[in-house]
This record gives sequence, C-alpha cells and structure tokens, in this order.
Amino acid sequence: MSGIGDRLAKAPAFHVSDAPKSVGSRITLRGWIHRKRESGSLIFVILRDSTGIIQCAVKKDSVDQESWKSAKEASIESSIEVSGTVKEDKRAVTGYEIESQLFRVVHISEPFPITEYQSTELLLDKRHLWLRSRRMTDIMRARAYIFRYIREFLDSDSFYEVTPPLITKAAGETGADMFELDYFGQKAYLTESSQLYAEAMIFSLEKVYSFVPSFRAEKSRTVKHLAEYWHLEAEMAHYTFYENMDLQEELISSVAKRLAKEQEEILTSLNVNKDDLLKIRPPFKRITYEEALKILNDRGAKLKWGDDFGVGEERLLTQDEEKPVFIHSWPKELKSFYMPINPRDERTVLGSDLQAPHGHGEIVGGSERIWRLDELMNRMHEVETAKGVKFNMKNYEWWIELRKYGSVPHSGFGMGAERLIKWLLNLDHIRDAIPFPRMSNRLEP
Ligand code: 4AD
Ligand code: MG
Repeated sequence: MSGIGDRLAKAPAFHVSDAPKSVGSRITLRGWIHRKRESGSLIFVILRDSTGIIQCAVKKDSVDQESWKSAKEASIESSIEVSGTVKEDKRAVTGYEIESQLFRVVHISEPFPITEYQSTELLLDKRHLWLRSRRMTDIMRARAYIFRYIREFLDSDSFYEVTPPLITKAAGETGADMFELDYFGQKAYLTESSQLYAEAMIFSLEKVYSFVPSFRAEKSRTVKHLAEYWHLEAEMAHYTFYENMDLQEELISSVAKRLAKEQEEILTSLNVNKDDLLKIRPPFKRITYEEALKILNDRGAKLKWGDDFGVGEERLLTQDEEKPVFIHSWPKELKSFYMPINPRDERTVLGSDLQAPHGHGEIVGGSERIWRLDELMNRMHEVETAKGVKFNMKNYEWWIELRKYGSVPHSGFGMGAERLIKWLLNLDHIRDAIPFPRMSNRLEP
C-alpha cells in the first residue's frame, strides 16, 4: 500500500467527467472501487468519483509489478489512484476506458457491509456508507444544485440572506409539534419556522430570506414528513398576497428550468424527464379553497366547508396536473394567526398553499401578514377563542411591537426544500431528499 508521499500526481487531478475531452491523453484519477472483475491477466476496475464512474483496465503486462499486485488485492470501496490513457471503448459502461499504466491503493477497504440487495432498514442504518451509492450521489448532487439555484434566484432579485436563531421561545406556527429543550433552566424550543424573525428584518433590508432547518416533532410517519427539514423562508416588505404567489412560481420555475438545462446527466441517471421540468413555467393555476372543495366533491370526495385536505384529497386534486397549483383563500379556522382576513370573503384569510403535481403534497405555504397592530391583536384573540388556545403574549411582544414603528404591508412564504426535491426528482420518500434523515423512528446515524 502506498502512502500520500508517493501519490501519482499532484493537483490538479482529473475527474471522471474529464474523460470525454481527454481521449488519447494520460490522466490521473482519484476515487473508489465501485465494481471489480478479473479474467486472467486482465483486471477491470470501475472507478467512482464525485462526477461519475469509469472503467479502468489493468493489464498484467502493461503495468509494473506493484500496480498489478495493488489491483489484485484491492477490494470494493478501496480508495485508489489510477494513471493511464483515456480510450473510447463502446464496450465499457460509459463508453470510455482508462488503459492503466499505474495503479495505487490509498486504503484497502474492509469487506463493504452493503451488497446488492439490502433491506431499506439496513440502508438507513448504514446511511453514512449508502450515501456512496450512485443513486444517493446523484440525489445529493441535485440537492446541492437546487439549493444553489434557489439562492442565486433570490440573490439576483435583491434579497438578503439572513440568519435567524433556531432556539426560540415563541411558536411560529401552531406550536403543537415543537421540540422542547431546557435552556439554562428556561423552557425553549427548536424553531418550527423562522418567519417571525424574517419579518423583523424586512424593516431594514426589505426583502430577506433565511434558509435554515425547521423542526417539527411530527409523530406521524408519512413519506413527506421529516422532524428536521431545510426551510426556505422569504419575507418581503410591500408585497401583496398576489405578488407573493408570483414570486413563488417564478422561483420554482427558475429552479426547475436550470435543473433541466444544466443537469441533464443527473436527471437521466435518476430517470427524471427533463421535458417535464421544462413545462414548469408561470403562471401556475390559482384556485380558492372553495373552488378546490367543489372540484374534489365533483371527483367523489365528501367534504364540507371547513374541512382540511388530507393526502387523499391532495392526490385527487393534483393527480393530472403538470404544474403546481395554488389553493388560496382558506377558511380562517384552518390557518395561522398572522394571516389577514380576505376582504372579498370574510370567512377566509389571505393565505395560499402550493400543491405539487401527482400528489407530492404541499411544497409552499405563504400569506400576506397582518401589519396593523389592532387588527393583529383582534385576530390573535379571535384565534384564542376559536381554538381554545392561549398565546403566551410575553413571547410575542417583540414581534407584535414591529407593528408599532413604521409598519408596512408585507408577505412571505415558507418552502420545504426536501418536499421540493422529492417532487422535482420524483422520489418515493422524503428521507432520500436529505443525507441524514431525522424522523420519529430515526435519529441515527
Ligand atoms: O406550511 P408551514 O407550516 O408554514 C410555515 O411554517 C410558515 N411560517 C412559512 C412562512 O410563511 N414563512 O410550512 C412551510 C412548508 C410546507 O409547505 C412544507 O413544504 C414544509 O414547510 N414542511 C415540511 N417539510 C418536511 N417535513 C415536515 N414535517 C414539514 N412541515 C412543513
Ligand atoms: Mg402549511
């Protein structure tokens, strides 16, 4: 085994993705053994790096003795360095092959605990290793690009990224699903939404977003709930309810389009049709809760005014859609204390949910915010009476106070990054949209 001292190349090293433009040249790759096959005096090693896989042919009589010995003893997932000439070869997995001249093992892997057919539970227990699989690598690359495209869209639209605290005293939403913790003897919570803090920051920065985790102590096990998820929350001074929806559809369309245009190879590997992503363009359908109710009942549901939609209703409503659908003007009983009453229908509030196609569920929740002090106080008291809850007003004082000093109309939304990823990549389960999922039954690794 060779150490770092006698590595084959100094940086810059090449990557697998450089192969097509390096045909005929000698390059050095660093990676891991994905597969290996031997026949007599020839060993085929499939090398994997962050950009893909490539076949490396090691011929006994074309390499020095040490290289041959290393290639022979190297096991699956051993880390290696290979130096050789790039050839086009139709028979190789990716159409290219490295004709190895030097082969070094950096570290011999112990027998890898994940083999071809494994239970979902084992793959979750060995998540730290399963992340090396081609599928997880593709998803994690797509995730990083999606995060990048979200930030780039907002950054180029005059937003400032801000960083709210994650340990809080006040509930941002219902508060029912918060993780409680002991904060030096005081009761505190892991945040379920950063909205209240984002609101505070529009008074200086006007358009802000935070992109940090939110925590929900959801006991229900579903394919779209995580206990810790990455929450993009945008808050904009002066934006109306309608401009808020415009922004959401532009953001999501921009991410889908860039993914389709710039990451075709990842999409192909994940079996995602890029043309489906290119169809995601503004405008998205906007229907009221009342209209949604009618559509659902026409399709066989038995819902009455005031009923919330479950998984079944979400699917029924979006099964044939190509683009997400906004459902807005919800009965006020179903929505949060910060949403203003809809002047056109006082039974409802100016809040919207964005439902992804094919039953992938709600990806964004947004609303205009109550910006007048008296109106907010009235609404909070109304919620207390209607829901039989009691706000601990002391915890909301600072947030309420924002309405005393130069308040402005404003709107905002929260988008679950993993919900977006699950839908865009058509994943069966939200846990695969995040490297180390946290769910009610999983805290490790
Ligand atoms: O609809 P929610 O609860 O809205 C809020 O938290 C608002 N304060 C957001 C805002 O206006 N700033 O959550 C927003 C989004 C949902 O639409 C969903 O995409 C995601 O967060 N989400 C979850 N994602 C994964 N796992 C969970 N348990 C989630 N709960 C909500
Ligand atoms: Mg919601």
